[in-house]
Amino acid sequence: MKSINSLVLLAAAAVAKPLSNTSYARLLTDSVIRRGVDPSFHYSQATFYTALENVYELTGNETIYNFYRDQVDALVYENGTIDSYIYTKHSLDNYRLGNNLLWWYEKTGEEKFKIAASDIKVLLDSHPRTATGGLWHRDPTYPNQMWLDGIYMADSFYAKYVKLFQPNNQSAWADVALQFDNIDKWTRKDNNLLVHGYDESKVAVWADPVTGAAPLVWARADGWYFMALLEVISLFPKNHAARARFLTYFKDQAEGLKNAQDETGGWWNIMDEQYEDVDGNYIESSASAMFTFGFLRGLNQGILKKSQYSAVAKKAYKSLVDTFITSNDDGTINFEGTVEVGSLGSNATFQYYSSIAVVQNDLRGIGPFLGAAKEWETRKF
Ligand SMILES: *[C@@H]1O[C@H](CO)[C@@H](O)[C@H](O)[C@H]1NC(C)=O
Ligand SMILES: *[C@@H]1O[C@H](CO)[C@@H](O)[C@H](O)[C@H]1NC(C)=O
Ligand SMILES: *[C@@H]1O[C@H](CO)[C@@H](O)[C@H](O)[C@H]1NC(C)=O
Ligand SMILES: *[C@@H]1O[C@H](CO)[C@@H](O)[C@H](O)[C@H]1NC(C)=O
Ligand SMILES: *[C@@H]1O[C@H](CO)[C@@H](O)[C@H](O)[C@H]1NC(C)=O
Repeated sequence: MKSINSLVLLAAAAVAKPLSNTSYARLLTDSVIRRGVDPSFHYSQATFYTALENVYELTGNETIYNFYRDQVDALVYENGTIDSYIYTKHSLDNYRLGNNLLWWYEKTGEEKFKIAASDIKVLLDSHPRTATGGLWHRDPTYPNQMWLDGIYMADSFYAKYVKLFQPNNQSAWADVALQFDNIDKWTRKDNNLLVHGYDESKVAVWADPVTGAAPLVWARADGWYFMALLEVISLFPKNHAARARFLTYFKDQAEGLKNAQDETGGWWNIMDEQYEDVDGNYIESSASAMFTFGFLRGLNQGILKKSQYSAVAKKAYKSLVDTFITSNDDGTINFEGTVEVGSLGSNATFQYYSSIAVVQNDLRGIGPFLGAAKEWETRKF
């Protein structure tokens, strides 16, 4: 699996570039803009839009701003309705865009963005929950299941919304915290890596009969969670008790990830130790980018100690550029090696995760890589 996919991809492109002063944040953003992006509320686009916010903050480049504006104008009508959005579907994946809508609302004050975000919040308010209050990953397909992916998709939006519009709503802050506390409690292993999710009703084919936990540590799920923790840490009130827990969750996860880093600098698609180097496993680019972003931002924000993590972060970033950036004859570059999906709608075995295609220029890889590049280019260590 690994060898076939990566050989095909690498053969199609020129050799990897050495780490230099090249601004990969600018170069890859420019390449994506030149290739074009279909405007969509899908979480792939939303993840990329978050990266555009980062790169715009880095560069102040008006072409990037206008490109992003055209995307959201194509998506959000003047009355605040989101194009093609399904206003009856409870799927956490569809809520991620809310973060971007609130970014635009804060930038412009335009009412249409507040309406669009509030409509997503209405869906979140009526979202089905587990017995302990956890938001289902999706209704009706994943009842009583929480996945790490869903934390990134829904809960930083939830926190951002509360911060902007209901900052004194203590039950809302507590409800956001509950989502993190629940999933962390049931998915974190002794080695501080987290399995993909859990089924509180324990009926899924993969669920542990006692805890409901999924069997394997899928790297991208851990990546979503690592990034979501950084987002809520910056959104929660400084003195809120849950914020201290988030900091512990983040730092403990950082320790687990540091220990799991491959000697090449990246991370395996399935991170359970017994699958290292097993045929069908490979260093996966989107998760490696998410972890690299998390380490770099954690360092830049002073959450992680330089003495413990700057070597890990540098090695990780260099590895991303060396392994996954390739260039084309027209001057554009690519980001390789991203697994398409990982779903607990499967049997959640190693065979399942290994069977998924690995693709080039997937926005779920590009977005986190751009975030990492921005942190790298503004690093304070
Ligand atoms: C990279 O930037 C640093 C600091 O601006 C500079 O000292 C160094 O010479 C540059 N290296 C290259 C290869 O351009
Ligand atoms: C701004 O971004 C666009 C699109 O990526 C790029 O073509 C242009 O060169 C950038 N401008 C500057 C001044 O860097
Ligand atoms: C909002 O505008 C769109 C496009 O003009 C239209 O199709 C839709 O019905 C409007 N929605 C509401 C709630 O008015
Ligand atoms: C406070 O937050 C809770 C949970 O999100 C929500 O149900 C409630 O409507 C909010 N109250 C106000 C006054 O906004
Ligand atoms: C799990 O699913 C994969 C395909 O996704 C299949 O190859 C494998 O045989 C299945 N394993 C079990 C134990 O059902």
